[in-house]
Amino acid sequence: MKKEKKQYNPIWLKQENFWYNLWKAVKSPWRPAKEDIKFYEKIVKKVVKKNKNPKVLVLGSTPEIRDMLAKYKTIEVTLIDLNIPVSRAMTRLMKRKNPREKLIPGNWLKMDQLFPRNYFDIVIGHGNFENIKIEKHDLFYINIKHLVKKNGYVIMARGCLDSCLKNPITFKQVVEKYKKNPEYFKNFVNRIFMLYRLADEPGVYDYKAQGLKFHILLKKLIQEAKKQGLSDRAVKDLCWTPGLGANTYYIEVDIATEKKLKSMLQKHFKIISLHHLKYHPVAEPAADYVYNFILKPKK
Ligand SMILES: C[S@@+](CC[C@H](N)C(=O)[O-])C[C@H]1O[C@@H](n2cnc3c(N)ncnc32)[C@H](O)[C@@H]1O
Repeated sequence: MKKEKKQYNPIWLKQENFWYNLWKAVKSPWRPAKEDIKFYEKIVKKVVKKNKNPKVLVLGSTPEIRDMLAKYKTIEVTLIDLNIPVSRAMTRLMKRKNPREKLIPGNWLKMDQLFPRNYFDIVIGHGNFENIKIEKHDLFYINIKHLVKKNGYVIMARGCLDSCLKNPITFKQVVEKYKKNPEYFKNFVNRIFMLYRLADEPGVYDYKAQGLKFHILLKKLIQEAKKQGLSDRAVKDLCWTPGLGANTYYIEVDIATEKKLKSMLQKHFKIISLHHLKYHPVAEPAADYVYNFILKPKK
C-alpha cells in the first residue's frame, strides 16, 4: 500500500507564509547586517580551529547566522525554537542548505533539560532575547550557562533602549513627520525605530519591567494622529505592527536599558566584547540599537 504523506497543518502553513513574507521585508537592525555576521564569524573561526567537531546552539532560527554556520562542515548546528512555522519560514529565507542542522522544538527557559550540561561550544541568538520578559532573564541565562562549555562563548545580539532614549521624539512630531513624508514610514525599519523613540514619552516605557508598553504607545499615537486629521487608512499605515493581535509577544516589547542589561548579564557571564554597527543605511540612529555581546560563562 502506498504510504500516505503526512499533511502539514494548513493553519501552520498560513503562519509560515505570514512570517516568510514579513521577514523577507525586514532589514537590519531586526535582522543581522553583514557587519554583525562578520563579527560573529570571528568567534566561530576561533572555535573551529580549536575543536574537531564543534557544537553550536542557535536560539531561534535566524537565517543569516545559519547561512554563516553552514560554511563550516565540521560544525554540528542545533536550533531551538518554540514555533515550528516561524522556524520553517526562516529556513526558506536561507541562502545555503545545511544537512548538519537539527531543529529541536522547545522552550529556551527549559532547554537545560534537553541537552547534557557543558555541551555547546557556542550559544548564539539574534534579536530574540527581547521575546522573554525581564523577570525571566535570570532563568534564561542560567539555562544558557548550563549548556555552554566553560571555555565556550555566548553570542548575544539584542536591542537596547539607549539609542532610542538618546534620540527622543514626541507623538506630535511623529505624526507631523508622517504628514510630511508618508513614504518614509512605509519602510519597516524606519517606522518601528521611530515608534521606539517614543519611549521617553510619559507612560510608554516601564523602567521597572524594562519594557515598552506598546498598546499604550499605539493608543496615544492613534489619538494624536486623529487630532491632526489623519485618515483611517493613514492611521493604519502609521501604526501597523507585524504580529500584533496574532502574536502577543509584541503587545509588550521587552527592551532593557544598557545599565540594567549589563548588570543582569554580569551575574552569569563575563563580557568579553561589545560591538555596534558603525552606520545604518536606513535609520541612522538605529546603528547602535543592537548590542552584539560576546560573553563567557562564569562557572
Ligand atoms: C521574531 S521571531 C524570529 C526571528 C528571530 N531572529 C529568530 O531568532 O528566529 C522570534 C522567535 O523566537 C521564538 N521564541 C520566543 N520565545 C521563545 C522561547 N521561550 N523558547 C523558544 N523559542 C522562543 C519564537 O517562537 C520565534 O520563532
